[in-house]
Amino acid sequence: MSEQPAHPTSDTTHRLAEPAPPCAIVIFGASGDLTHRLLMPALYNLSRWKLLPDKMAILGIGRTDMDSKELREDFTKTIEGFVADKTAEFSVDKIDQDAWSRVVNTIEYVDGDISDPKLYDEIKAEIDKFSKKGVGCNVLFYLAVAAKLFGPVVVNLAKAGLMKEEDNYWRRVIIEKPFGHDYQSAVALDKQILEVVSESQVFRIDHFLGKETVQNIMALRFGNGFFEPIWNRDHVDHVQITVSETVGVEKRGSFYEATGALRDMVPNHLFQLFTLTAMEPPASFDADAVRDRKEDALRATHHMSREDAQRFAVRGQYTRGKVRDKDVNDYRAEPDVDPKSQTETYVALRLTIDNWRWAGVPFYLRTGKSMAKRKTEIAIRFKQAPLSIFKDTPVDEPIDNWLILNIQPDEGITWQFGAKVPGPHVQLEAVNMKFSYKDFFKVQPSTGYETLIYDAMYGDATLFQRADNIEEGWKIVQPLLDTWKAGKPPLAMYEAGSAGPKEADELLARDGRKWRPL
Ligand code: BG6
Repeated sequence: MSEQPAHPTSDTTHRLAEPAPPCAIVIFGASGDLTHRLLMPALYNLSRWKLLPDKMAILGIGRTDMDSKELREDFTKTIEGFVADKTAEFSVDKIDQDAWSRVVNTIEYVDGDISDPKLYDEIKAEIDKFSKKGVGCNVLFYLAVAAKLFGPVVVNLAKAGLMKEEDNYWRRVIIEKPFGHDYQSAVALDKQILEVVSESQVFRIDHFLGKETVQNIMALRFGNGFFEPIWNRDHVDHVQITVSETVGVEKRGSFYEATGALRDMVPNHLFQLFTLTAMEPPASFDADAVRDRKEDALRATHHMSREDAQRFAVRGQYTRGKVRDKDVNDYRAEPDVDPKSQTETYVALRLTIDNWRWAGVPFYLRTGKSMAKRKTEIAIRFKQAPLSIFKDTPVDEPIDNWLILNIQPDEGITWQFGAKVPGPHVQLEAVNMKFSYKDFFKVQPSTGYETLIYDAMYGDATLFQRADNIEEGWKIVQPLLDTWKAGKPPLAMYEAGSAGPKEADELLARDGRKWRPL
């Protein structure tokens, strides 16, 4: 082994963007969908941006019987298929062949059964070969496999000695979501994993944290002087967080039946948006400083009783309708879905935070499939100004003041406020002041996985979930899982292509509020 400097777990200096340190990337689930659709395009982008290690190797592990050449050809076919496919998550006009060959030429493949210890001996032999070729012994394992395999793979890696960090080499594992399917199973999975590796080796991914606009929430809040003084209960009336999708469950019926919208989206993606909005300022951008403050926000979030869980949350399921002029079937008629399914495709909930900043300020969260519009936003509604000076004018209704963080698809920030309509009368109208990313920055098409893979190679865990963050998130939604399992409250049906069920409107109407239109 040649000398290789260790990288501390929270090194953020790479933000100046230099190539990542030499390493091998071992992908479990190499022949699967996630690897094709997102990981390979992300590695390709890193290659284009010259951020991949100068010395690197990729080892794919899968069940499909094929050789390395076939896997390389398969990936090349997929990446070329993205050219001009405007509907793909990763869409490009042309492939930069040099950048792609730097990725694809390093790929080797081993097929095998991941519960078989022999496979890990083979992986070890491959890593030794890489190391002899000068790649070194840093290894990033990526688990793009079914959730039930996360624990067993990490245990097998550790048993084979593959997670052992010595001679300044690091061994890290990226674990996909869903991390557990409820509070108990997340705790058990953490225990199983942390018995054999240390927390600093585990990178629990949530791809929402790879989105520039999500990362920008912290920059916006803590890099500007004027937000912080008004970011609290004195000025904020309430917050609405929306992640609405036009896609249905597509070909993921059997996964979705066992998962549902709550598990799929809330304790992970929506809670990222929620904690980044609600947390106190961290002392630095250091991974633990940020994750400590997120943890505080989750801990201060009111944990519902079973009765509250019925009052303050809505679970919905879509029925036949039209989404963007296309006919959509009942969820229950989708492939691999039980015709009497009780699985929710929509969730709305009202959360409160018991701390000094947010006491009395509700956070309303909603997410759903087959809805009218694809939109992810955090909308902060400010309190009304006192109206006394308008008392002798035609202004009888105040204008709503909103700050909207547009996460996707129209990335930007919008202020909504009242302005005087030109003319002799005093009349106010809502106007928007908008900052749009694409007007200011050259946005490169990316998958969101680029930053995350790069950060993991550097050992920067700021954008990854720590065990306690995940467990606390599950703890908050556990009362909903429990009451819903008992069939309470009944599913609220909504038409595909609508803004969700009327019960979700009632949730806000009880507080005298309304959802923002989609
Ligand atoms: C995934 C969920 O984690 O996130 C999907 O499993 C969902 O159901 C997706 O569609 C949303 O991510 P994005 O990046 O498309 O907004």
